[in-house]
Amino acid sequence: EDAAKVAAFEKRVAAEEKIEANDWMPAAYRKTLTRQISQHAHSEIVGMLPEGNWLTRAPTLRRKAALLAKVQDECGHGLYLYAAAETLGSSREELVDQMLSGKAKYSSIFNYPTLTWADIGAIGWLVDGAAIMNQIPLCRCSYGPYARAMIRVCKEESFHQRQGYEIMVTLSRGSVEQKAMAQNALDRWWWPCLMMFGPPDQQSSHGDQSTRWKIKRFSNDELRQKFIDATVPQAQYLGLKIPDADLKWNEQTQHWDYGAIDWQEFKDVLSGNGPCNRDRMAARRKAHDDGAWVRDAAVAYAQKQRSRRAA
Ligand code: 3HC
Repeated sequence: EDAAKVAAFEKRVAAEEKIEANDWMPAAYRKTLTRQISQHAHSEIVGMLPEGNWLTRAPTLRRKAALLAKVQDECGHGLYLYAAAETLGSSREELVDQMLSGKAKYSSIFNYPTLTWADIGAIGWLVDGAAIMNQIPLCRCSYGPYARAMIRVCKEESFHQRQGYEIMVTLSRGSVEQKAMAQNALDRWWWPCLMMFGPPDQQSSHGDQSTRWKIKRFSNDELRQKFIDATVPQAQYLGLKIPDADLKWNEQTQHWDYGAIDWQEFKDVLSGNGPCNRDRMAARRKAHDDGAWVRDAAVAYAQKQRSRRAA
């Protein structure tokens, strides 16, 4: 690649300038952003499935309306992110095909089952809480379209997190069975949420480059630690116990020390052997096939509109 152009690009990034779609950028910058933004979009769309499972089973109309709004928001986040990824030159069709063929990833967290209503509370509180930790720094990403998509997403994520935490407050102040259900959900979601932030920094293949290009503002481990420090007091407020016997406040570092994460489980989930990978992919493939006629109709309609305007 033209060394002078690369140097000029690096200078712009160092000066905190936003890189826009029509600006020159190194091929590797384009490639890693297409990878990350499209996988982020896939995560939002697949993330609708675990929660969708409880739309017809919500305990009250208010909970149902809030969950419906959240699931619709996630779909919208997916659309913003596919649109941001398309500004880098890939088409939405090819990005979606990469996910459906298993070539592209989506977040490990969505391969776990939602067994009780308390899971909906735990997802809002913990999964969206983790997503907020990860997405706030992305609002300052060096690539303009991604950073701007994140600003809108983060506003909606805070509602997602609040409605989840409110469910957990209701359950933990409810009957013995309800509190036990909330504790069981925390037990099952805690460790997979820590894995959401990605492998440890020394195993993060993209971390250094993404940090140099100001795509990543904090490393995987830094964000994981921020999440733990913010969430432990919330669990204490709920009167729920975090399932980690090694969790201990460290006066020195002013952070919570935590136990070893099972990275073999993470690897298993990423290689398609998590509890729900096959169900999630089957549901996505079926939705894609069932929706083909809608996409064809939209294309036909757009062509008709174009030929009418041209006539
Ligand atoms: N699930 C699946 N794959 C993961 C992962 C996870 N939790 N964490 C890391 N990986 C993958 C990476 O994609 C990479 O594989 P690839 O080269 O095939 O893409 C590999 O593991 C090595 O990880 P790295 O740390 O080197 O990768 P990154 O530098 O890309 O960091 C990341 C991983 C922190 C997830 C980063 O990609 C990121 O910040 N992505 C944007 C945010 C995002 O995708 N969040 C997912 C959840 S979306 C969500 O929560 C929706 C909310 O509304 C509920």
